Amino acid sequence: MRPNKRLLLFTFLTIFQLTSLTPPSSSNELSLRLQLTHIDAGLNLTVHELLRRAAARSKARIALLAHIRKREGQAPIFWGPKNKYAGEYLINFDVGTPPINLPFIVDTGSTLVWTQCNPCHNCMRQPVALFDPKNSSSFSKLSCSSKQCLALGPEYSSNCSANLDCHFESLYADGTETSGYIASEEVTFHYSSESPLSVSKFAIGCANVSSGSLANSSGIAGFGRSTESLVSQLNITRFSYCFIPFIPIKQTKPSHMLLGNAAFSSSKAQSTPLLPDNNFYYVSLKGITVGLKWFPLRPGFLWNKKGGSRGTIFDSGSFNTFLRPEVFKVVRKAFVSQINLTVTNEKLTAEYQLCFNTSMNPKKIPKLVLHFDGANMDLPRENYVVYDAKKKLLCVLIAEETDKSAPNIIGNFYQQNMNVLYDLKNQRLFFGPTQCDRL
Ligand SMILES: *[C@@H]1O[C@H](CO)[C@@H](O)[C@H](O)[C@H]1NC(C)=O
Ligand SMILES: *[C@@H]1O[C@H](CO)[C@@H](O)[C@H](O)[C@H]1NC(C)=O
Ligand SMILES: *[C@@H]1O[C@H](CO)[C@@H](O)[C@H](O)[C@H]1NC(C)=O
Ligand SMILES: *[C@@H]1O[C@H](CO)[C@@H](O)[C@H](O)[C@H]1NC(C)=O
Ligand SMILES: *[C@@H]1O[C@H](CO)[C@@H](O)[C@H](O)[C@H]1NC(C)=O
Ligand SMILES: *[C@@H]1O[C@H](CO)[C@@H](O)[C@H](O)[C@H]1NC(C)=O
Ligand SMILES: *[C@@H]1O[C@H](CO)[C@@H](O)[C@H](O)[C@H]1NC(C)=O
Ligand SMILES: *[C@@H]1O[C@H](CO)[C@@H](O)[C@H](O)[C@H]1NC(C)=O
Repeated sequence: MRPNKRLLLFTFLTIFQLTSLTPPSSSNELSLRLQLTHIDAGLNLTVHELLRRAAARSKARIALLAHIRKREGQAPIFWGPKNKYAGEYLINFDVGTPPINLPFIVDTGSTLVWTQCNPCHNCMRQPVALFDPKNSSSFSKLSCSSKQCLALGPEYSSNCSANLDCHFESLYADGTETSGYIASEEVTFHYSSESPLSVSKFAIGCANVSSGSLANSSGIAGFGRSTESLVSQLNITRFSYCFIPFIPIKQTKPSHMLLGNAAFSSSKAQSTPLLPDNNFYYVSLKGITVGLKWFPLRPGFLWNKKGGSRGTIFDSGSFNTFLRPEVFKVVRKAFVSQINLTVTNEKLTAEYQLCFNTSMNPKKIPKLVLHFDGANMDLPRENYVVYDAKKKLLCVLIAEETDKSAPNIIGNFYQQNMNVLYDLKNQRLFFGPTQCDRL
């Protein structure tokens, strides 16, 4: 232990909390409250099964994220054959006139909003009928040279001759692809007890070729950071969410996503800058505390991109938190040395590489604090530790990033019972402990 450093950190924390203010909301923004449906809600799964499925989704998702990053600056990638079940929460909204209600995966890691459309060649299974453009009176394909298509960015209007459609596509090394065209369409959002909000001329992707799995959705709602995303098209400068823990599984209240004026940060919120990127919400992770040990992360520890400052993605669509191998090793070692139990090779799932044999759920577990630039995330125990009484296993939910070029990813399990605000105007991420089911 280094008392001096800890004292310093404490002082810093106190000052910081006094000066961290909730940004004022701008009054001319729309206000939306969307219900989030957990992808495994209503399946009556055991805790073990929930964790296993969530871990499998995370693993698939991370492969996708790595894929997207590698292709930055090229045609956008939205989906891939390796990527099954990516994403954790669904939102529903209506598309077209008359309105058809469709489930979309909430994805803060991509930008376009798209659904599979009829006719669709070799498409993914989805729980509702394919959206049929022919049935919608408000539907119109955007031409490649239209103002709206050009505004979306060069990748949608590339190689355009006057009579071509505005398009999106992603090609993979194995020859499979997801592609389609962009349409201008009316979308309608419903929110509790108020009149629905309809947005006309919304640019929505219509996939007509795709592969992979959509995990009981019909498409993706990209909440990323460029012009085509749901966030940008609704002209909102902020959104927030608060995930109600889904373990124990008995809880029935759904979590919500708040857009525009409805979004807020909790009174005890701290904030950290969002680093520039045209897709992902990057934050700067500067250190980690495990129990009594504080580990500063040298820039060399981080995934090195344009100066090495952008090493950590804050993600809503990944369940797991993935740490780069160098970081994972020290964090794992710190837990092992501070938990007085036998490490076992038995695992809750393949992804959690740190479990202990114990017939009793220990009262004390070393605390875990993520130190971001200017903000500390002091995790409640239930956000990183799971005890399985049946298997007599205590597991710390840290996962090692296996892709060499991938960043750290802060997943949504760590974000439970925290109100998280993405303040896009001021480029800051706010988070604070909150009893989400009381909001
Ligand atoms: C849920 O699963 C448990 C154990 O598998 C079973 O006993 C129970 O009847 C199931 N409940 C519902 C509503 O299906
Ligand atoms: C998908 O849509 C594009 C653009 O409208 C079109 O050129 C293409 O032929 C369609 N593909 C299939 C398989 O329908
Ligand atoms: C489209 O309209 C036709 C004719 O009204 C109807 O039979 C069909 O079910 C509709 N399809 C969808 C996907 O709404
Ligand atoms: C545009 O066309 C060029 C030449 O045909 C091709 O190399 C390139 O991949 C195309 N770009 C896109 C985004 O389709
Ligand atoms: C889709 O939902 C069904 C029924 O609700 C469920 O049995 C199935 O496991 C789900 N599929 C995926 C990929 O989540
Ligand atoms: C967003 O702003 C654009 C450009 O000012 C405008 O055309 C569009 O209608 C706005 N959308 C919403 C939902 O307010
Ligand atoms: C660790 O556990 C052993 C056996 O349960 C006990 O004898 C020992 O005092 C414990 N050590 C610490 C540091 O808690
Ligand atoms: C953990 O406990 C199980 C049975 O409860 C036993 O089979 C296994 O050998 C133990 N592992 C260690 C590393 O002690």
